Amino acid sequence: MPDDLPPLLLGRLNHVGIACVSIDATVAMYARLFGATVSTPAFDLPAQGVRVAFIDVANSQLELIEPLGADSPIHGFLKKNPSGGQHHVCFEVADIIAARDAMRARGATILGTGEPRIGAHGVPIIFVHPRDTGGVLIELMATPEHH
Ligand code: CO
Repeated sequence: MPDDLPPLLLGRLNHVGIACVSIDATVAMYARLFGATVSTPAFDLPAQGVRVAFIDVANSQLELIEPLGADSPIHGFLKKNPSGGQHHVCFEVADIIAARDAMRARGATILGTGEPRIGAHGVPIIFVHPRDTGGVLIELMATPEHH
């Protein structure tokens, strides 16, 4: 191990990110098929170029993300997946800076500048490049105060 962090960096699975063309249509689909209701209604997150809503399930959340603005990073995903799809998985970490540094020390690339940004839960997040993680975009987020 090239660092002195605990062997298991990943905490609780916080949410699964699902890209969609329309949050409203996706919420309606989850309600119709699964009886699921929105726990956090859609809101804009301009810094991330997304509109977000959450659906709570017993042990986690679905994060529905819709493109916001012409520069949204979701446009590229929807071009490849026109009807939307699973976009990322998010794990909680105890220390976001230590996690970022560990990712780099272990040879993984952090998207963007590498400086944590404030995510939809109001805590710092980073994304690990899917080329280093078997094709899965992995979000790491500082553990929120409460669950
Ligand atoms: Co997310």
